[in-house]
Amino acid sequence: MRTSRTWWITLILLSISTVALVAAESSWLSKVPPADRQRVNPYADRPEAIAAGKLLFEENCAKCHGSDAEGRHGRPSLRSERVAHATEGELAWLLRNGSLHKGMPSWSSLPEPERWQLIAFLRSLPRDGPPAALAHH
Ligand code: HEC
Repeated sequence: MRTSRTWWITLILLSISTVALVAAESSWLSKVPPADRQRVNPYADRPEAIAAGKLLFEENCAKCHGSDAEGRHGRPSLRSERVAHATEGELAWLLRNGSLHKGMPSWSSLPEPERWQLIAFLRSLPRDGPPAALAHH
């Protein structure tokens, strides 16, 4: 009897930790298929694409991420290391699919070129960090 109880407790603890692991792994980044990850932005670094992306951002994204893209009301900053390290293809995947359970809408209704313009704009943003004047010493 005693052994079987220990057994059940072990089993329950194991399933709890599995659930916790799966939850930790569920960042949208882990869902992007490898082929999507490698896609490159046809408009990267083009000033007119960055300008267009900025307008699209103000229109569609600023209400959640702030017009400075620093995030608001629990929505993440887009000047983070995470976004800077994400590939253009990963960002494109997120804009197309969203992260619906966590409140990031899908932008598949925007034409694909506009999504690439948004990504060009995101890439042009400075990263969060110490102000330039303090970063010297
Ligand atoms: C309704 C609110 C809302 C709007 C509008 C919105 N987002 Fe988001 N966004 C979120 C939330 C919430 C997350 C966090 C999702 C997650 O953690 O999986 C997010 C995550 C992101 C991320 C990933 C950030 C990270 O650290 O992983 C990017 C990039 C992003 N949004 C870009 C955009 C762009 C570009 C637009 C406009 C086209 C936009 N978002 C519009 C709510 C929003």
